[in-house]
Amino acid sequence: MNKLLIANWKMNPDSEEAAVGLAHATDLEGVIICPPFIYLESIRGALKNAQLGAQDIFLSDGKPHTGEVSAAQLKEAGVEYVIVGHSERRALGETNELISLKLKAALSAGIRPILCVGEGDREDPTSEEFITEEINNALSGLDKKEEIIVAYEPIWAISSNEGANAADPDYVKKMIKKIIRLSRKHIHHPTVIYGGSTNSANIQSYLGLDGVEGVLVGSVSLQSAEFAKMAEIIKKNNK
Ligand code: PGA
Repeated sequence: MNKLLIANWKMNPDSEEAAVGLAHATDLEGVIICPPFIYLESIRGALKNAQLGAQDIFLSDGKPHTGEVSAAQLKEAGVEYVIVGHSERRALGETNELISLKLKAALSAGIRPILCVGEGDREDPTSEEFITEEINNALSGLDKKEEIIVAYEPIWAISSNEGANAADPDYVKKMIKKIIRLSRKHIHHPTVIYGGSTNSANIQSYLGLDGVEGVLVGSVSLQSAEFAKMAEIIKKNNK
């Protein structure tokens, strides 16, 4: 399978013009761009090579949900992937239970979920239990054939300046192995990726690890030249 390069723009940029410009500059083969909801429509129109993702989703349970966006609305907007359970959303109070419902909402609309899991502290001895719970809660009860991307994003490695906190590849290797084992209890073929302070200098050290099928990029996805270098490296890995 081709390796994935997923851009999580978070709450950026501040204008539609800048968003469309960034989309044009990073509209590359193998890339999935996840802009803020407000730009989905215009980014969809701008992309020729990259695919469209969203950063969150909400439930269609017949109840009123002010401010939220449903799976049906995302599908209609051309969204093919959606990030679910990013640590920045979990920090706002999103529970494993809600994440599991969001995952199911995405799947039933035919949108492929990118489930984020990851522990809060570096080398924390309870990390494994923490991640086990995140995975079991999110994936249990699913059809084994579901195609889900599981992004290992240790919270301590996210958004560090110039990649300073990026996780050590040996540590990532160990955790990815566990995540694959845990995920396979629920689904046949989890696609496992890494995220956290990735850039063009360190991406290959993760892509070269057994079981790592791509990376989820935050800050650097806003720097088009640097991100394009990452896309080049992904392309070489896919040859
Ligand atoms: P980062 O963000 O690349 O800026 O660390 C990754 C993420 O939050 O998905």
